[in-house]
Amino acid sequence: MKSIRDKVIYQVYVKSFMDSNGDGKGDIAGITMKLDYLKRLGVDCLWLTPVFVSPMNDNGYDVADYYRIDPSFGTMEDLEILIAEAKKRGLGIMLDMVFNHTSTEHEWFRKALAGDRKYKDYYIFRKGREALPPTNWISKFGGNAWEMVPGTDEYYLHLFDRTQADLNWENEELRKELFDVVNYWIGKGVTGFRFDVVNLISKPEVFEDDSTGDGRRFYTDGPKIHEHLKELMRNTFGKHEGMITVGEMSSTSIENCVRYSNPLEEELSMVFNFHHLKVDYEAGDKWTLKEFDFMELKRIMGDWQEGMEKEGGWMALFYNNHDQPRAVSRFGNDKRYHRESAKMLATSIHLMRGTPYIYQGEEFGMPNAYFQDISEYRDVESINYYDILKSNGMDEALILEVLRAKSRDNGRTPMLWDGSEGHGFTTVEPWLPFARVSGIDAESDISSDDSIFNHYRKLINLRKEYAVISDGSFRMACMDDNRLLCYLRCKDEGKLLVVNNFYEEETSLDLNEILVETGNDFSSCTFQDALISNYPDLIKSGDMIKVRPYESFALYVEDN
Ligand code: GLC
Repeated sequence: MKSIRDKVIYQVYVKSFMDSNGDGKGDIAGITMKLDYLKRLGVDCLWLTPVFVSPMNDNGYDVADYYRIDPSFGTMEDLEILIAEAKKRGLGIMLDMVFNHTSTEHEWFRKALAGDRKYKDYYIFRKGREALPPTNWISKFGGNAWEMVPGTDEYYLHLFDRTQADLNWENEELRKELFDVVNYWIGKGVTGFRFDVVNLISKPEVFEDDSTGDGRRFYTDGPKIHEHLKELMRNTFGKHEGMITVGEMSSTSIENCVRYSNPLEEELSMVFNFHHLKVDYEAGDKWTLKEFDFMELKRIMGDWQEGMEKEGGWMALFYNNHDQPRAVSRFGNDKRYHRESAKMLATSIHLMRGTPYIYQGEEFGMPNAYFQDISEYRDVESINYYDILKSNGMDEALILEVLRAKSRDNGRTPMLWDGSEGHGFTTVEPWLPFARVSGIDAESDISSDDSIFNHYRKLINLRKEYAVISDGSFRMACMDDNRLLCYLRCKDEGKLLVVNNFYEEETSLDLNEILVETGNDFSSCTFQDALISNYPDLIKSGDMIKVRPYESFALYVEDN
C-alpha cells in the first residue's frame, strides 16, 4: 500500500481538455497530444472522466455501452494509443466506472422496458401508490427520484437524472456483468479505476418514505456496500498488482471511509468525500449564496485527516473536480491575489496525508466561468435548478448569481492552453464557452517567473522526496486561529509545519505557541528551512512570523 502514498493523480475532464479534430469538444487523441505537458508537471496517473458511448445528458455519466468509446471522444484505437503512449512516459490511466446507474438508452434498460424479465431485474422497478411514486425520495438533480413508465403503474428509481436509471446490485447476474466490464478494461492495460458515487449502490430491502429527509439515509453507505466492494475487488482489480482505485463517496462517514480504504479490508485504495466542500452551503442547501465558513473547513479537514489516520484509512486530497466550482475563485481570490491564493490552496492540500488530485487547469489557476446568461450553461443539474429556483419564485438576477458561484459548469469550461481566440483548445466554437476571464492561460503561466505550474511541480516532487509528506502522521495546529490553517506532519527523520493564510489580511504566527501546543520546536527556522513558499522570503522576528495575504509555507526540521 505504501506504493500509492507518494503518487499524485491528475483528473482529465475529457470533453474540455483538448480538441484534436476541430469539433469544439475535447477527445482522447487530444489527451495524447498533451502527455508531455502532464509528464512535465510530474503526475503519476491520469483519471479520465467517462469516455463510453452515451447520449451525454450528463456528459458521459449516463453510459449506454460500457464496452465502446463514444465517437465524440474518438475510437478504441485512440484509447489504446493513449494507454501505450502514457505507459512509455511512466503514466498510468484510470477509467471512470459509473456503476450506480446506466443511461436509459443502455440496451439492458431498453430490454427491461420491453418487458424482458431478466433485464427488468437489472434495475429497480416498483409499483406506485395510487397517484404517488413508490417513495418521496428526492433525486440529486432535483424532483422526485422515481420516474413512471408510461402506460403502466410502475416506476423506476433514478437517484440522478431521469435518464440515469439505478442498477439493482442485489442481482448477482448484474454484478457479474459489471465485473466483466472492469476486467475487460484491465485487459486493455488501464492501471486503475474511479468508481462513480459507489457508496450509493446498495439499496435497502424495503423502500419507504423518508419523513425527515430526501431519502439518502436509506441508500448512502447502504446495507451491503462493503460486501459488494469486497466482491468487486476479489473478482477484478484485486487480482492484479499495483492497481489504484478510488471511490466517490456521497454524504459518507469517516467510519465507512476507513472501511472502504483500509488495505486490510480489501475494498479500495482510497476515497473521495465532500464534507469539506459544503462549507459554503446555507443550511446544507447548495443553491444559496454564502461566504465559506473557514472554521468549519478547518474542523472538517482536521476530523477527516486525524480520523482516517487513526484507523488506517487513506483519502484523496482535493478541492477541485468537474462537479465543483474552482477553488481559487471559491476559497481564494482570483483577481488581486490570483497566484498567491492558487499556490496557497495547492500547498494547503498537497502536504496533507493522502493522495493529491489535480483537476485540469488547477495547475495554472483556472478560475470560475463568470457566465452572464442562462444560455451559456450546459450542465443538466444547473439547468434543472435554474427551473426549480425560478418556480420557487427566486429573482432571475439572483438565480444567475447563485449559478455563477455554484454551477458545475464553473469547473468544466474548456482548458485555456494559451491566449489565442480558441485558447489552443479548439479552432471552432467550443461546446461550452470559455471562462469569461482574461490573462490566465497555461502558456503565460508557465513562462512567468512566478508560475503556479512550477509550484505544483515542486509540491509533487516534495511528496516523492520527503517521507514525512507521503507517510508522516498528521495533526492540526492553531485550531482557534480564524485566518490560518496550520498543521504538523511528523516522521522519525523530520517534521514539517505547514502554514496557510486563507485571507488577504495580514496576520501573524507565534512559533512559541506551536511549541506549547504541539511540543515541536520550529523557533530556529529561517527561510532556508522552508521546503516551499509562495513569497520570496520569510518575515520573522524572534518567535513571531508575519503572515502576508494568502501566504503559505512549510518549515522542515530534521530530527537527529
Ligand atoms: C458523480 C459524478 C457527476 C455525475 C454523478 C452521476 O457525482 O462526478 O458528474 O453527474 O456522479 O453519475
